[in-house]
Amino acid sequence: MSDSLFRKKTVSQILDDAATGESSKLVKTLGVRDLTSFGIAAIIGAGIFSTIGLASYNGGPAVSLLFVFTAVACVFTALSYAQFASTVPVSGSAYTYAYVAFGEIFAWVIGWALILEYAVSNMVVAISWSEYFTSMLSGFGITFPKYFATDYGSAHRAWELVQQTKQAGTALSTLPENTQLLAKAWADAPTMGGLHLIANLPAGAITVLITALVYVGIKESRTASNILVVLKLAVIGLVIGVGAFYVKPANWSPFAPNGMAGVLSGVASVFFAFIGFDSISTTAEECKNPQRDLPRAMLYCLAICTVLYVLITLVLTGMVNYKELGVSDPLAYVFQKVNLDFVAGVISVSAVVAITSALLVYQLGQPRIWMTMSRDGLLWKRFSTIHPKYKTPSFATIVTGFLVALPSLFMDLKFFVDLTSVGTFFAFIMVCGGILFLDAKGLTAQSKFKVPYINGKYIIGVAFVVAFAYAHGLHIAEMANEKPLLIVFWAIWLVLAVQGFRYNFSLLPVIGVLTNLYLMTELGASNWQIFGIWLIIGLAIYFSYGYRKSKLAR
Ligand code: ALA
Repeated sequence: MSDSLFRKKTVSQILDDAATGESSKLVKTLGVRDLTSFGIAAIIGAGIFSTIGLASYNGGPAVSLLFVFTAVACVFTALSYAQFASTVPVSGSAYTYAYVAFGEIFAWVIGWALILEYAVSNMVVAISWSEYFTSMLSGFGITFPKYFATDYGSAHRAWELVQQTKQAGTALSTLPENTQLLAKAWADAPTMGGLHLIANLPAGAITVLITALVYVGIKESRTASNILVVLKLAVIGLVIGVGAFYVKPANWSPFAPNGMAGVLSGVASVFFAFIGFDSISTTAEECKNPQRDLPRAMLYCLAICTVLYVLITLVLTGMVNYKELGVSDPLAYVFQKVNLDFVAGVISVSAVVAITSALLVYQLGQPRIWMTMSRDGLLWKRFSTIHPKYKTPSFATIVTGFLVALPSLFMDLKFFVDLTSVGTFFAFIMVCGGILFLDAKGLTAQSKFKVPYINGKYIIGVAFVVAFAYAHGLHIAEMANEKPLLIVFWAIWLVLAVQGFRYNFSLLPVIGVLTNLYLMTELGASNWQIFGIWLIIGLAIYFSYGYRKSKLAR
């Protein structure tokens, strides 16, 4: 059995499958500029426009350094993705890479984790889109009923909080404004048989619209994405250019008011803001020259976004005191604060545009991964049907539409941000680890791009000893007590040091594994547990279907 669980596909098998079956009908139309644009479209979205507010509130200006540190993890991961994409240029992305490097069960697990990165993150993006959309409407004097622009749980919790506050005799004004609005939404909502009818209709509707666009064609999606990205970059440029004049360096002090703990509490949000550079690899079969263009585009879009993010965070935390940033629309908020209402208005409108383009790329990526899994027999065959006219994976696209639209109608945002981040860290770690494996097995002959090689034979071990000794000086026992996940981090570093010594591991992918893993430990045990449950469900599906139906089993 263990042989069949770890059965692997060879690169030539994978390329043959892609070139022959149904999916050979996909249109090869994307060049490096389109891919870079898709990358920027995917990266800059709900994260920077929304969730970063709370991260800055908790961490202060030092959150800009967290952006730099997270970017380091992403750059090393991007290099690994780039090597894989140039070796196996097919739509499965990390799923396919794991099939080559580690075998089928890992491939399935990664494919399953990628649902968190694409479909689940898109629920966050859709919900965030809805927030900006309704606030844009209110800027035009149109009030969208709150009970049709939020989720049931949030409204109910807010209502209960208001009741408790009233019973305690405390003034309602002590509650955040948003809580009061949500409680009102609960009270005002129409009811049916006692059930409050509350749903996030804009989130569901935009998901359906974007899915329709993705369904009708890759060229249409490309054109839309290119236009949206130009607009998005213009707005980001505006925020940085105008905002810079309003920066008061005094706001940068204290730089890290809540210490390291405060900064690191923003890991999920900051990482979420970076997610997406890898998603362009899912369009590999629609690229003109994937082996050359995918690696370049991934690095270009990541570099561009990192610079923009660090600048934005510095501007944001320089314009107002960090304590004011705990809002869901921080970019628009800071401009209102300095009485530039017009700029704040422009940002609100363009956030809607920016977030739309992120939605588009993930709705594009998820079906293509399913298409590849189905081609390998791990999912039902219909997932790889290509529409005869539109040449897109039509069935998989429709399923993605439902999968994202339904939860975004009814669920809340925070839960999804953490879940997405934990699943994506996991996928990133596997991709970096996969490069070590390819190198060790000498499977790099077909790699047109390779991660620059620095021999880690001694460095990984020496760095381990130094870092461990330093951390020991920082009372590692207490740290491990407080954060048992750190034990996993140190244990994996030790394994890498030993194996690296034996196989002369390439240093950069090792740094990728370790930085991602460290950040993942910051997400906390409860997220790991939920992710564990997610994996168990995935494995149950694999054993009841994919394991038997896999092409390799036949
Ligand atoms: N990076 C994407 C965003 O921030 C997921 O919306």
